[in-house]
Amino acid sequence: MNSNPLSRRQWLQGGLAAGLGLAGLPAGAATAEHAWRSSYAPHDGPRKPPLDTRDLPVQGRWPSELRGTLYRAGPARRQLGPVTLTHWFDGDGMVQAFRFDGRGKVSHRGVLLATPKLLEEEAAGRLLYPGFGSRVPDERPVTSPDQLNVANINLLAAAGGRDLYALWEAGSALSIDPQTLDAKGFKAWSPDTRGLPFSAHPRVEPDGTVWSFGYLPGSGRLVLYEIDPTGVLRRQHVMAAPQADMVHDFATTERYLVFLLMPLRFQRGADAPADASFLERYRWDADAPLIAMLVDKSDFSVARRFELPGTGVFHLGNAWEQGGTVQLGFAEQPAILPLMRSLRVDAAGAADALPPTSWVTLRLDLASGRAVREAHGLADVEFPRFDPRLCGRPSRFAVMLQRSPRMHAAVPGMDTVLTLHGERVQRFGYGDGWIAEEHLFVARPARSREGEGWVLGTAYHWPSERTALSVFDAQAVGAGPVARVRLPYGLPLGLHGQFVGG
Ligand SMILES: [Fe+2]
Repeated sequence: MNSNPLSRRQWLQGGLAAGLGLAGLPAGAATAEHAWRSSYAPHDGPRKPPLDTRDLPVQGRWPSELRGTLYRAGPARRQLGPVTLTHWFDGDGMVQAFRFDGRGKVSHRGVLLATPKLLEEEAAGRLLYPGFGSRVPDERPVTSPDQLNVANINLLAAAGGRDLYALWEAGSALSIDPQTLDAKGFKAWSPDTRGLPFSAHPRVEPDGTVWSFGYLPGSGRLVLYEIDPTGVLRRQHVMAAPQADMVHDFATTERYLVFLLMPLRFQRGADAPADASFLERYRWDADAPLIAMLVDKSDFSVARRFELPGTGVFHLGNAWEQGGTVQLGFAEQPAILPLMRSLRVDAAGAADALPPTSWVTLRLDLASGRAVREAHGLADVEFPRFDPRLCGRPSRFAVMLQRSPRMHAAVPGMDTVLTLHGERVQRFGYGDGWIAEEHLFVARPARSREGEGWVLGTAYHWPSERTALSVFDAQAVGAGPVARVRLPYGLPLGLHGQFVGG
């Protein structure tokens, strides 16, 4: 236990900068216009040794029951030799591990993942392959998705945390060592699924069963995976799925896999614009609906479809069955294609003119086939997480990020962590100079109820070019963090994380 708790008065008097020990730090070179880019710059160029810092000072009181590792994944290196990738999604994957021993000791390790792509490019001294949203000169020919696999979106902890994977979404899961974070090669769940796409958003149910899927743009097919609690593939299936050209996330209930299929079409061959990136080959079909598809877990060949007004989505919250309906929440992205096009690391602020995201719930009536959509007045939200003990079961608690109107127009991203307790909302705003990354929920061990535990997440302070990790009481996020650790360096702004207790 750390013995230097910050009182609420100290927080209020000193403000966040003083509370974090940021006062007096020399400001970095970042300005609002390149706040986002500044998090990547230190990680560009030739590969550096892993970041490794022990005994990070804890400010506040670290909860003694909060023991384990927070793993986070994200795109990092975008430049090698004369070539620079321009899109946020395209950097080589880097994994961060924050370890907490419960006695106030916190360490950090960050490793750039040695994928086959990275090793081939390092041997050549320059980037050789395109990304999702970037092209490079004199590209090498691509014959399989894993040649482009940067494992930079999310992590999967399977078999109780013994097996750890870094995930992209268009190729295989990359096995990594949970301690060293060294890449150990692509996972083949079975000979039949070797090299097939494995999503960046598997769902782990309370008994440890892992459900996942994969899509190949333009193929009209989804691959489904069921992995048992020991980490062994139980079933796989390839199903026809029209309108499955970009499927980033899904959800599960007791009986169903739940997909939201957007009206996005991937143009192949002669239909595609010349020299277009993968992103530039997508077209929005304004006449097509959003399709909610339920696949029967016990018989993958049985699927039901519900039609809704066409809209976009990256991330779903929890889903469950109740009273003859399937219910779920999602962060609606009405302008998903312009948004993705705006996520260029060499530009800033372009997303401001787009329609806001909003938190939407769906109720799919199994008897009538009717779909009811409800908005909740929560705008500019993303990265929903929930209590993992209730994956696929009725739940009321959620954590997400929100962009406040106070945020500088030239700085992309979010600055507020938000919890939903039913319809009740709590917020904590990081304040000026901060870009928050995904925050997730960790349950208090033993006999706790839904939403009892901690909210845990990182944020990048661009004026000082430093990253901090904050811990909140999940029932009182609005009161501010109960503990915080500041790294002596900045991490590249990442995507998703997973917590492994122990
Ligand atoms: Fe995601």
